[in-house]
Amino acid sequence: MPDSAGWGTITLVTGLLHEPQPTPLALLLLGQDADPGSERGVECPGALPAASDPDLVDRAAAAKAALGDRLFILGHHYQRNEVIDFADVTGDSFKLAQQAAAHPAAEFIVFCGVHFMAESADILTADNQKVILPDLAAGCSMADMANIVQVEHCWEDLEQAGIAEVTIPITYMNSTAAIKAFTGRHGGAVCTSSNAERSMRWAFEQGEKVLFLPDQHLGRNTAVRELGLELTDCVVFNPRKPLGGRTADQLRDAKVILWKGHCSVHGRFTADCVDDVRERIPGVTVIVHPECTYEVVTKADIVGSTEKIIATIAAAPPGSAWAIGTELNLVKRLAQNHPDKTIAYLDKSVCFCSTMNRIDLPHLVWVLESLIAGTVVNQIEVDPETAKWAKVSLDRMLALPGPDAKAD
Ligand code: 13P
Ligand code: SF4
Repeated sequence: MPDSAGWGTITLVTGLLHEPQPTPLALLLLGQDADPGSERGVECPGALPAASDPDLVDRAAAAKAALGDRLFILGHHYQRNEVIDFADVTGDSFKLAQQAAAHPAAEFIVFCGVHFMAESADILTADNQKVILPDLAAGCSMADMANIVQVEHCWEDLEQAGIAEVTIPITYMNSTAAIKAFTGRHGGAVCTSSNAERSMRWAFEQGEKVLFLPDQHLGRNTAVRELGLELTDCVVFNPRKPLGGRTADQLRDAKVILWKGHCSVHGRFTADCVDDVRERIPGVTVIVHPECTYEVVTKADIVGSTEKIIATIAAAPPGSAWAIGTELNLVKRLAQNHPDKTIAYLDKSVCFCSTMNRIDLPHLVWVLESLIAGTVVNQIEVDPETAKWAKVSLDRMLALPGPDAKAD
């Protein structure tokens, strides 16, 4: 029986995670024009095939075959299976950025992920390559928690406090191109969940303090758990308050200034979820993404980026039991791919990333068939000046030693 959100039944304890029923309607009527106030599109032209069309899979396959080497499809691990099935490569945001840069021959890069990832792909690809996001409404609520005007104001606050000169900005990949450009201009770098430790260590070689944007949890977990700083070395900067809600002395005393942002998916896991799953599944190993809160990662057994979670489960012995705290599409896929292991979702209630889920088969078919018809829809283009500086911060990240995605 589908629930009120339109999903079918999902069993969340052992390896019995059931695929949701196909959505009865195309998820969206959103996603064509850009909303300048956010990362997201607001409207769709309505030319989408019906989600109920039984030929969608065949249409996607035929369109992909017709486009051949002109097309390269990237799929983030949080995408639905129906989309992942057509990806030429799957990965976390770091791997997909590398892969976008590594395919200069593809005329069209269709990015099945969210808006900031497609922007990064546009920045890292050549001018003649077109990056397409199948649904412009696939934004990221975390990326929307920091806009460039707020970040410029924050920097002015740091200047007033006399610390801007010794502060290196590090921005998580999950941020707008404008913030990546700001980071590039001010001597900083981008990071992803798989190289946040290396990026932060690099930043401390360049300066005395780090301004970490926009995910306070990844910043805190990296500073305290990976670099060995104290919790009291970190302060949270609230962009809605004067001086971030801090005194100038508090900003001066801090080693890491954490932007007040978070992931609305990973931020839902609580320390109680960890206690509950340990009671429900004796001997379970709890593995969580570093976008989870400090309390959750402290209670977990293993903390790792998306790629590390995948590698850890793949390397685990048959019969082992795992509770995973990351996006549900990935957890379901891991359960399907590892039927010899018990895979549980850490939360008791179902929680997909709603914006990742906006990319579905109707949107994929629509963009591919449009390309065949000679129309490029939903192209993501970053203006040249922003792209130039954003590339500086992305290239600094790509030049760091590669991420360590091995299993523990
Ligand atoms: P990674 O792909 O870096 O693991 O990030 C997770 C995420 O939330 C992407 O939006
Ligand atoms: Fe943004 Fe979180 Fe969704 Fe990733 S999982 S796209 S960080 S809201």
